[in-house]
Amino acid sequence: MRKRLEILLAGRTRDELDALESLLSSQGDIQVTSRLMINGNVDPLEGVAPLPDALVLLVGTHWEAELMALCERPAAERPPLLVVGPKGNVELIRLAMRAGARDFFSPPIDDAEIFHFLRELARNRRDDPTRAARVTAVINAKGGSGASLVAANLAHCLARQERDTVLVDLDVQFGSLPLYFNVIPDHGLVRALESADSLDALALEAYLQPHASGLALLASSPEDRFGLGEVPETRVEQLLAVLCQGHEEIVVDLPRWINGATASVLERADKVLVVMQQSVAHLHDAQRLRDILVHELGMLASRIEVVVNRYDKRNDVSLAAIEDALPGLSLQTLPNDFKRACHSINVGSPLHDIAPKAPLTRQLAALAESLEAPAAGTAQTRKRSLLGWALPGRH
Ligand SMILES: Nc1ncnc2c1ncn2[C@@H]1O[C@H](COP(=O)(O)OP(=O)(O)OP(=O)(O)O)[C@@H](O)[C@H]1O
Ligand SMILES: [Mg+2]
Repeated sequence: MRKRLEILLAGRTRDELDALESLLSSQGDIQVTSRLMINGNVDPLEGVAPLPDALVLLVGTHWEAELMALCERPAAERPPLLVVGPKGNVELIRLAMRAGARDFFSPPIDDAEIFHFLRELARNRRDDPTRAARVTAVINAKGGSGASLVAANLAHCLARQERDTVLVDLDVQFGSLPLYFNVIPDHGLVRALESADSLDALALEAYLQPHASGLALLASSPEDRFGLGEVPETRVEQLLAVLCQGHEEIVVDLPRWINGATASVLERADKVLVVMQQSVAHLHDAQRLRDILVHELGMLASRIEVVVNRYDKRNDVSLAAIEDALPGLSLQTLPNDFKRACHSINVGSPLHDIAPKAPLTRQLAALAESLEAPAAGTAQTRKRSLLGWALPGRH
């Protein structure tokens, strides 16, 4: 059965809200809810769950605070936005665009225009990646820091919490995640990328390798070996969009090479986990990666989380030193447990299955929990101009 479009109208003037509500309601098949915002209340979506199919925000004198509140939400927690406000305010329009506005109207509202917006909304609802899955990208600051172990066990934790989770091994050259789950993809990532432009969520299921935990793995099969430069960016975007439609959590293990393909995942990610260990060389590469993410890809620091793996409080490179070198990024630590980490990979069983009570397993579960916390900002992605930056070190 087709679901009615649910529209939330938010504004500060009852008359304006009523007028727009009756205009929208006249369209049938639309359920409109109005929200009168009063003085201290600036986030039009505060306490709104589940999210509507679209938010129509009528802005007035508090436009800046209201739009900033929307900017601060992760893209996946913002419905499509239409802003209605006074003509000729360039700053307002710019901020509305940053908040993800698809359109901007000034009163008097043209009926035909708003109906066009609603029709587009209904048409795109199924295809809109921002409505669906949460995307977590995991990348090493320096090769061998533990990104694959983190991605694998994070995805496993989410799947165990009954979240519909897909783990994507985007390292088409050296990807090893199938080993971590003791599975062999028969026709995996490369084939899925080849046909990404014609796949829908149902067809994509055939490329996913199921694991007993409920997790689905999308990784290269043994015969798929090609260079990352050969992965077309548009195909990765298409694949991610389709994955996002059909699932709740997408965890991507990224190779340590930023090109168009990996950048498109990073730009879409709600959180990017940068995995490092405690050494000056790791710190140097983490700073370099942070600069690329923030300055080249325009990502807000609040989207980036540093995971200090194999943490040892006696190490010369202390947490305080890491914090100083990477200001504004939040840090998490994972304890060193080489025996269990190795055993888990060697037998192809996630840590929870072999050592549910181990501190490393518990900290990984805490990392999964921490994803629930809303990011304090949104990725203001800007179209990149570079095709590939290699990070120093491996790969
Ligand atoms: N917390 C940990 N304690 C001890 N050993 C760990 C820990 N995390 C990862 N390791 C070990 O570090 C090694 C590399 O980790 P992982 O398998 O995640 O590869 P990676 O960092 O993704 O490597 P690559 O850069 O090649 O993709 C593994 O052998 C693993 O056992
Ligand atoms: Mg890896």
